[in-house]
Amino acid sequence: MSQGYYVSRTVAVSAAVVAVVAAITIFALSVAYSKHKCTAGGGGGDGGGDGGTLVGPTPAPEAREPWDRYRLPDTLYPVHYNVTLWPRLTKNEHGLYVFTGHSTVDFKCEKETDLILIHSSKLNLTKSNGHHATLTGLGRARAPSIKTTWLQEKTEYLVVQLSGKLVPGHSYQLHTKFQGELADDLEGFYRSEYTEKGVKKIVATTQMQATYARKAFPCFDEPAMKAVFHITLIHPPGTIALANSRDAEILHTSLDETDVLVTRFEPTKRMSTYILAFIVSDFGSIQKDETDSTTLVRIWARKTALESGHGDYALNVTLRVLEFFERYYNTSYPLTKSDQVALPDFNAGAMENWGLITYRETSLLYDPKTSSNGNKERVLTVIAHELAHMWFGNLVTLRWWNDLWLNEGFASYVEYLGADHAEPSWHIKDMIVQGDVQRAFAADSLVSSHPLTRSENEVSKPEEISQMFDTISYSKGAAVLRMLSEFLSEPVFVKGLSSYLHQFAFGNTVYSDLWDHLQDAAQSTGLHVNLPYSVHDIMNRWILQMGFPLVTIDTTTGTISQKHFLLDPDAVVDRPSIYNYQWIVPIKWMKNGVHQDQHWLIEKTAVFAPMRASGSQWILANLNVSGYYRVNYDQQNWERLFAQLSSDHQVIPIINRAQIIDDAFSLVKARILNTTVALQTTKYLVQEREYMPWEAASRSLNYFFQMFDRTEVYGPMLTYLRRLVQPLYDHFQSDQPLSHTMAYTKGIAVSLACKTGVPGCKQQVLDQFRQWMREPHNNRIDPNLKWVVYCHAIAAGAEAEWNFGWEMLQNVTMASEAARLRSALGCTKLPWLLNRYLEYSLDPSKIRKQDAASTIGYVASNVVGQSFAWDFFRSKWDYLFKEFGGGSFVFPSLITSVTRRFSTEFELQQLLDFQRDHPDLGSGKVALDQAIEKTRANIKWMAENKKAVLDWFNSQSAS
Ligand SMILES: *[C@@H]1O[C@H](CO)[C@@H](O)[C@H](O)[C@H]1NC(C)=O
Ligand SMILES: *[C@@H]1O[C@H](CO)[C@@H](O)[C@H](O)[C@H]1NC(C)=O
Ligand SMILES: *[C@@H]1O[C@H](CO)[C@@H](O)[C@H](O)[C@H]1NC(C)=O
Ligand SMILES: *[C@@H]1O[C@H](CO)[C@@H](O)[C@H](O)[C@H]1NC(C)=O
Ligand SMILES: [Zn+2]
Repeated sequence: MSQGYYVSRTVAVSAAVVAVVAAITIFALSVAYSKHKCTAGGGGGDGGGDGGTLVGPTPAPEAREPWDRYRLPDTLYPVHYNVTLWPRLTKNEHGLYVFTGHSTVDFKCEKETDLILIHSSKLNLTKSNGHHATLTGLGRARAPSIKTTWLQEKTEYLVVQLSGKLVPGHSYQLHTKFQGELADDLEGFYRSEYTEKGVKKIVATTQMQATYARKAFPCFDEPAMKAVFHITLIHPPGTIALANSRDAEILHTSLDETDVLVTRFEPTKRMSTYILAFIVSDFGSIQKDETDSTTLVRIWARKTALESGHGDYALNVTLRVLEFFERYYNTSYPLTKSDQVALPDFNAGAMENWGLITYRETSLLYDPKTSSNGNKERVLTVIAHELAHMWFGNLVTLRWWNDLWLNEGFASYVEYLGADHAEPSWHIKDMIVQGDVQRAFAADSLVSSHPLTRSENEVSKPEEISQMFDTISYSKGAAVLRMLSEFLSEPVFVKGLSSYLHQFAFGNTVYSDLWDHLQDAAQSTGLHVNLPYSVHDIMNRWILQMGFPLVTIDTTTGTISQKHFLLDPDAVVDRPSIYNYQWIVPIKWMKNGVHQDQHWLIEKTAVFAPMRASGSQWILANLNVSGYYRVNYDQQNWERLFAQLSSDHQVIPIINRAQIIDDAFSLVKARILNTTVALQTTKYLVQEREYMPWEAASRSLNYFFQMFDRTEVYGPMLTYLRRLVQPLYDHFQSDQPLSHTMAYTKGIAVSLACKTGVPGCKQQVLDQFRQWMREPHNNRIDPNLKWVVYCHAIAAGAEAEWNFGWEMLQNVTMASEAARLRSALGCTKLPWLLNRYLEYSLDPSKIRKQDAASTIGYVASNVVGQSFAWDFFRSKWDYLFKEFGGGSFVFPSLITSVTRRFSTEFELQQLLDFQRDHPDLGSGKVALDQAIEKTRANIKWMAENKKAVLDWFNSQSAS
């Protein structure tokens, strides 16, 4: 998935634009490409009585009966399914939306057994001869008779006990007939509603990842249980049915006295259940001629959106990105069509169903007139992410969810390569550093982090699987794979990758299979001589232990050392590592602006004489942040770097200018570096015009805003920042056209300027906003500045501005514009408006359910709203848990956002009370642990730094 979870990877980018207000973080969460609601709610998985911890080193004791275990036995393997589904787009006599269906699965027996376990969840199975299924033998096989059948709700199985044995080597066919609810729960086969031209429309669509295919029809619902699927959909005339493959035949007929279309699809390739998809809708589509390619590429969306041209950009880039990946993987696109569908209701950012990718509207639709560069970039990178999965993930699939990081990390890395091919002028490859690497650093520097890889038996229940869709899997996965590609060199990386894809096409793997192929590629090109150890030995240290090293270079002696970097130096690491938290670290570096040969740090401490420096010489390590680690230096080297930044900052690569800031501020948070050293990294910014350093600074300072905006430090801090941003703000006062990233920089400039009170800024945004209020149908605000203008105008304005924004939100058709408005409405300083907005967030007639959590997050990111959001969160706990708890991705982001400012003993106590009162937090457990850990770190940091920071800001305005 497109990190439904954290994924709005791209959103991260636009977020950056918006950065100063942090509002966006939540977005990211929703993007994070995933979703997954609580399967437990209906009495399923979350029984809680079996003593297993959610995620932890100790697996639950093995259950006695096979149907009490969450993993399928290794006795039976599906080969072919024939599935017919009929979603009803109107309510039945009981007021329910339902679908009916029947399905056969042909499977092969590998080991003798008298038991068939097949996943089935929330389906009502029709009995035949007293049983929930019928069994026949295929070929020479004779099926034993069925003794008994039942539904095992907790483990989500249909259990079929036989009176005789199934014979190894023989094949059988199991037939079921069923009815399920077409609920609006965003899981399995579900219902989405929207209104177009005043008419309510119903869409039947799917989200199978990770464990919801079993909610659409009985199936062996594990990624290694690949099979061929023969799908038939029955649907009303006037609607279109889509599935993973092309349609083979559409019949107009009558069933149960109803006029229907029956669309039969070509058999799929051999594939996993979690990437199946079916959609019935009256969406429109656009496509290009098929002349130069045998792949049919289509964009599907609400007809009005396509008529306004909002699908054109997606269509343009899909073809270009597909071409790129065919070349990069050296493997042609495995299917004959690629549909991209924008859904009005969708939890994840996007989902890589094979041949039928589903997207949130914000991740697929782009309106050149109203969308920002950030919106455009998001569309491009999400498309690239999902298309990357068509090979890596779909063609070759990890055997089990414990290796999810490789699937998601890989797509999160190569999405930048695919996007770069489509928009070469954007320099988008650099964006991975702020979009993923720095995000991974933040999550992975907590003791509550976890290794990328887990053992299979740590991940078996649905909620354990959904917890895998986190920042570590996506962003750290991307960061370490990028590092691997960088130290192997790209040609070696793609050579190994392509042989891996060829060997395992239509099959399943574990992560070490990729290491094997990369090692072979390094050897066959002779480049392994540059490696101190094998790919396995180097990479296993990065994936089997959590965290990452801080590399410290003492340029007075040339000593380099490494140490596990923790944000809270007093936190106790109780997770043992076989590598003792030591890594094999590739170091690309420069001395005085001159690139040097790559160096490997293998020991805990080593002396490397070339890294000694004297006079005005400086050392800069981790060039372009191609390695997944932070760097610290001796005091003199820091000062020489500052001197270089002040005299000629361009000698230092842009990414590293950003990284110096990001590293220094993180080292301060970890109490390794004096706060004033970090603040000094910002002084040269008066000369900086590039996006990445400003983004790093505004994000780092965001922590200062969070910690200090309720304290006496705030005033002097604003005075300093105002002086820093004034030249940048002035730079953008003319209306010259801007490059892709310079438009982002302008957003930061205006945002910081308004926030710090640069004269004229607030008036300017208010004037622009009020101009729009006078002419609601003629919004002339620069799309790239819209968020900043909306937010600061609503903050500076009163009820009239808020109400206007709300009214515009009701009428808006572009989802990205809606997201901006929703976020900006959280910027008001009026308590009653903030509280009213919180109430709205849980009223589905006002705020769509998929947007509730991010809306609460927007209020929480506002200094005035944060305590209201926390109170609201606690008082609405039961409802929130019911709606978002269990396996959901949204829930952790909610906890994170409402507790972000916490930095006092009082707030810590509230968190601890909350934890004590709510032992069963589902997917929120880890997030709450992290919130507690972060709060403790904040308290210590404040105690040690508040005075020094105040003094430093005061001294700057005095000088
Ligand atoms: C699938 O089932 C339909 C009827 O449900 C039948 O007409 C068709 O022949 C079956 N196809 C295969 C390949 O078994
Ligand atoms: C399934 O059966 C239960 C119990 O009879 C019933 O309450 C529920 O509505 C049924 N679900 C559907 C989708 O028909
Ligand atoms: C799509 O590509 C065409 C032809 O290259 C171009 O004219 C058009 O502006 C593009 N549309 C968008 C929305 O980028
Ligand atoms: C940290 O900064 C403070 C205030 O500028 C200074 O007094 C102190 O000596 C510094 N400490 C270190 C270890 O550099
Ligand atoms: Zn993905």
